[in-house]
Amino acid sequence: MSYIRTLISLLPLVFVGIPAAQAQQTSPVTAIVESWMASRHGDRKAEAFVHWNKDGAVPEDCATCHSSPGMLDFLGADGSTAGKVDAPASTGTSVDCVACHNQAAHDLKQITFPSGEVMTEASPSAICMVCHQGRASSDSVNAAIAGAEDDTVNGDLGFINVHYAASAATMYGGSVRGGYQYEGKTYAERFAHVPDFNTCTTCHNPHTTKVVAIDQCVACHKGAETMRDIRTTPADVDGDGNAKEGISAEISTLHEKLGEAIRLYAKDVSGKPVAYDSHAYPYFFNDLNGNGTADPDEAKFPNSYKSWTPRLLRAAYNYQFLAKEPGAYAHNPRYAIQLAYDSLEDLASKATTVDMSGMTRP
Ligand code: HEC
Ligand code: HEC
Ligand code: HEC
Ligand code: HEC
Ligand code: HEC
Repeated sequence: MSYIRTLISLLPLVFVGIPAAQAQQTSPVTAIVESWMASRHGDRKAEAFVHWNKDGAVPEDCATCHSSPGMLDFLGADGSTAGKVDAPASTGTSVDCVACHNQAAHDLKQITFPSGEVMTEASPSAICMVCHQGRASSDSVNAAIAGAEDDTVNGDLGFINVHYAASAATMYGGSVRGGYQYEGKTYAERFAHVPDFNTCTTCHNPHTTKVVAIDQCVACHKGAETMRDIRTTPADVDGDGNAKEGISAEISTLHEKLGEAIRLYAKDVSGKPVAYDSHAYPYFFNDLNGNGTADPDEAKFPNSYKSWTPRLLRAAYNYQFLAKEPGAYAHNPRYAIQLAYDSLEDLASKATTVDMSGMTRP
């Protein structure tokens, strides 16, 4: 394809950075370069790309998604075995043009998720799904809690972080088990939505990464002023009496209630209050003063929460999954609701102070 030739001729420019004057030109490729540079994929100073600078290389475990040479290694585009990273990758790159534009990326059709499930994706969005799939699944949580008593504090357990923006795992839902799926429940599979908007790059521009304008959605979602106003679900999912708010608000309320339920269960059943901080690793801390929030002196690594029971751990996994997936309402609304609902129900089965009145599972 001719654009690949243009692209290759432009690569040296991309890697050295384009002078502003040149970026003013109107060539479509120049516009692409410009919008990529303004996106988070092109932000080489972001934590997601500089995190390893002090170590001098990005380790195999992280390199696929946090460096371009790592992605080429993973795809086998560098001549190595496909499906694994063979060596640490150099630092100093981000999600460069070449990470998505190489023959192996264009040919990619099979995506292996952390659960081991392999999905076939024939659209150009396959490459997005390699990086936006998270790093854990129901299966990793089940492996950690196997054989343990549901409500007994277990010192061997630690918080399991799915990682960030596992959008493809949300989109495929029950088929890939990216969220914690409770035994005996069924989960929404891939969100089919509508043919024009059912892959990453039909809703997101692959270069700016921004979502298309709302005017592309209002033909069907009449009256929506923002994405967050969109709703088709009739049921009042969160039971707050408002069945008109956007589906995003229903999910946010369930998520907030799940946070409360986690705190109630930890206090009443684990016997050790917990608090969450979305920015401080590993996110769950002892709530030493019992005020329900992780204060600055509490949100410190040595104060990490260590009084996990299996029931608390799986709810915390889903809480974090949704906290770090702000587009879940558009990627697979029913799956997002089911994860939050089932975690609430599981906690409520033991912590009687958890109130689910009025809530509906779709
Ligand atoms: C399957 C792909 C994938 C792998 C493997 C992966 N990450 Fe990430 N990571 C991501 C994505 C995607 C984001 C960005 C999410 C967002 O902010 O939109 C991210 C974000 C981060 C961030 C930035 C968080 C922030 O607050 O800005 C850090 C730090 C990070 N990852 C560390 C790691 C480490 C350490 C490893 C290896 C042990 C690793 N990642 C492996 C996909 C991955
Ligand atoms: C995150 C992955 C990703 C990155 C990074 C990326 N692209 Fe793309 N690019 C795509 C995808 C996916 C398409 C195809 C869109 C489609 O067909 O739906 C595309 C399409 C294109 C096209 C065809 C014209 C068009 O607009 O569809 C050109 C040219 C192009 N990219 C150039 C670049 C250049 C130059 C860079 C670096 C500045 C770059 N791309 C970075 C994913 C990426
Ligand atoms: C090589 C791994 C990789 C690939 C491939 C990739 N991403 Fe990303 N993506 C990331 C990382 C890492 C971040 C976070 C960057 C940061 O924190 O600056 C990110 C961030 C994002 C964001 C968040 C932007 C924001 O403003 O918050 C969106 C949306 C996104 N990617 C969509 C896509 C789409 C759509 C594709 C496919 C066309 C794609 N990504 C392909 C790794 C990847
Ligand atoms: C139906 C349209 C649609 C599809 C399909 C879609 N997205 Fe999204 N995405 C959205 C919307 C809407 C948001 C949330 C924007 C908001 O509310 O701020 C979003 C948010 C995101 C974010 C978080 C951005 C942030 O603010 O941190 C990432 C990352 C992302 N999407 C990646 C993907 C990937 C990867 C795919 C494919 C697996 C995908 N999306 C498919 C519409 C879509
Ligand atoms: C051709 C009509 C059509 C267009 C255009 C369309 N949608 Fe949809 N959308 C639907 C239908 C039909 C459903 C219900 C699907 C279902 O429940 O399985 C839906 C459901 C949704 C939902 C979930 C609502 C809920 O209550 O569960 C979101 C979010 C959404 N669409 C976002 C978008 C965004 C964002 C766009 C624009 C990028 C868009 N849609 C464009 C028809 C459309």
